[in-house]
Amino acid sequence: MNPLEIVILAAGKGTRMYSALPKVLHKVAGRTLLEHVILKAAALNPTAIHVVIGHGAEQVRQSLDTLPPDLRTLLHLQLQRAQQGTAHAVATALPEVGEHSEVLVLYGDTPLVPEGILKTLGSRRDGQTLLLLSARADEPYGYGRIVRAESGDFLRIVEEKDASEQERALTEINTGIVLCPAQLLREYLPRIGCDNAQHEYYLTDLPGLLRKDGKPVEVVISEDFDGLRGINNKMQLAHAERLYQSEQADKLMRAGVTLADPKRFDLRGTLKCGQDVFIDVNCIFEGEVSLGDNVTVGAGCVIRNCSIAAGSVISPYCVFEGSTLKERTTVGPFARLRPGNVLEDEVHVGNFVEVKNSHLKRGTKAGHLSYLGDSDIGADVNIGAGTITCNYDGANKHRTVLGDRVFVGSDTQLVAPVSVPDDVTIGAGTTYTRHIEAPQGALVTSRAKPRVVENYPRPTKEKR
Ligand code: UD1
Ligand code: CA
Repeated sequence: MNPLEIVILAAGKGTRMYSALPKVLHKVAGRTLLEHVILKAAALNPTAIHVVIGHGAEQVRQSLDTLPPDLRTLLHLQLQRAQQGTAHAVATALPEVGEHSEVLVLYGDTPLVPEGILKTLGSRRDGQTLLLLSARADEPYGYGRIVRAESGDFLRIVEEKDASEQERALTEINTGIVLCPAQLLREYLPRIGCDNAQHEYYLTDLPGLLRKDGKPVEVVISEDFDGLRGINNKMQLAHAERLYQSEQADKLMRAGVTLADPKRFDLRGTLKCGQDVFIDVNCIFEGEVSLGDNVTVGAGCVIRNCSIAAGSVISPYCVFEGSTLKERTTVGPFARLRPGNVLEDEVHVGNFVEVKNSHLKRGTKAGHLSYLGDSDIGADVNIGAGTITCNYDGANKHRTVLGDRVFVGSDTQLVAPVSVPDDVTIGAGTTYTRHIEAPQGALVTSRAKPRVVENYPRPTKEKR
């Protein structure tokens, strides 16, 4: 078989988005439209992926920097200086395409294109035929229509803006996806004119042109229109998002995860789940998240790049990032875990507690209203309400180290760098600094002596 190369058209402005962002950089499930298409393209093992960029080229180029290196080596970016239409865009990439290659054209604004359909197209290529992918659409508005003869034979594609009323009634639409031998593209793209409503060079004129010349053109009709929808405006973007999310939710539920409502579930990355995981409504998972057996996630949680081990219970409205929670931890409601935390087995972090870059050993509890930053906290420590690690001196961050079984009374400030030995009891309201040299098991308090004024005359409002 001839080599397969892929051309992704991504130079358009996306006028109908009314956005400063180039269209292909809008996101579905946290990933740019273009990235979705590139991943689909890569799954076909092509020899090269050419991405035609133009509008916001520099921004689009930069957005690809985060792709894995093996994928980036496949990419060749081609600059289309002026966006003169889809045929012109393909022509821009053509000089880089091998002589005997076959070219699959994908649109950068069609992110959910099903891999199966692309594989079918790939398997039907024969080095001579143009394969055109169409679909049946209930509301075909905006799409190019497939015009056929009475015999049912393919004639040509007509764009919405150039179509007659009769043609607009046709419901077989052009998905935009074509597979064509490079040689035919070389020969026929230069013959495409721009005498149409948009004064653009339409790639969609190519199949009709070939047919007239007696070249082989085959139309493959897809049953799945949803995945082949192009995204031109914010409504279509939102529609694609929901479609994608519902597919992901289905996959998880099929694997045994309980979602309180699959319509109120969002995954922007990958989520691995053990057995009997329960996820309540309106949670968002981002990046790489794993949930162990029997984990429960309460309503409204946002969890990014975390691993949460078996039996842990996350109460509603928590925001977590970059943290590891071991088994049977209980966190929230309203807890915030910033990057770099390890919460060992049975740790409890309660409401309005913020933890950052900290290691909490087994069984430690911080129930209410605290900030624990840059700290190493031993096992079975009790952190009272209102405890603050003063980790920042205005220039540098310092660590707080607490031994095992330390009891921290409420409203304590731990002024880092500071280290508290095992079994120390810190009285409520203590300002604990490194100058306090308490031995293991000691009680430390720092309280101003209270002053008592008897029969205190409260201030009263002045009369005018
Ligand atoms: C296009 C098709 C239409 C099809 C529909 C499917 C044409 C003329 N029309 O219409 O038949 O039903 O897609 O979704 O092809 N682009 C460039 N350079 C350009 C122009 C466009 O790279 O000069 C890129 C765009 O960034 C976009 C893609 O090509 O990713 C398609 O362009 P768009 O303007 O969205 O075409 P549609 O009007 O949707
Ligand atoms: Ca489009």
